[in-house]
Amino acid sequence: MNSAVIYYSLEGNTKLIAELISKEINGDLIELKCKKELPSKGFKKYFWGGKSAIFRETPELINFNIDFSKYENIFLGTPVWAGTYAPAFNTFFRDNSISNKNIGIFVCSGGGKVEKCFNNFKKNMPDNNFIGEISFVDPKENTNRDYKQDIKQWISTMKF
Ligand SMILES: Cc1cc2nc3c(=O)[nH]c(=O)nc-3n(C[C@H](O)[C@H](O)[C@H](O)COP(=O)(O)O)c2cc1C
Repeated sequence: MNSAVIYYSLEGNTKLIAELISKEINGDLIELKCKKELPSKGFKKYFWGGKSAIFRETPELINFNIDFSKYENIFLGTPVWAGTYAPAFNTFFRDNSISNKNIGIFVCSGGGKVEKCFNNFKKNMPDNNFIGEISFVDPKENTNRDYKQDIKQWISTMKF
């Protein structure tokens, strides 16, 4: 079955997981990139990124055009920002309507709650089959853990 892994990542954690998932399922890897990106260092990113997430801003994305009809399975990944998905997904949901797909969701957080983020994804795409969700805490920081194995295990439980 054809799969796509669509993700946004400011600092590389979600990217790391997205790459592992796309390798495991042999899927297309698609990164959402904002035309105007936040500073990825220091306090400013929390201020501007937090504000952007809270006010549900819709940042313009670069070259974003996906033919969803090609895919049966879609994996969506985001860092948790202010308890929800990163604002790039506000734009994604505004501009794309996805239905009748198998959907897996993966999120990276700094250790806070992730349920709201999963639920917000689901609210935005109700007519789909949710096949799994998984979260990681700043995986780039914890290099001893075998994330490849975690993902293998996660995918092996899915009912496509
Ligand atoms: C603007 C901003 C807001 C964040 N808000 C949260 C949060 O509400 N809860 C949490 O656990 N982590 C929060 N984080 C931490 C990130 O979710 C976490 O570091 C994640 O692994 C980063 O993923 P990335 O490297 O793919 O960008 C926030 C980070 C940023 C930049």
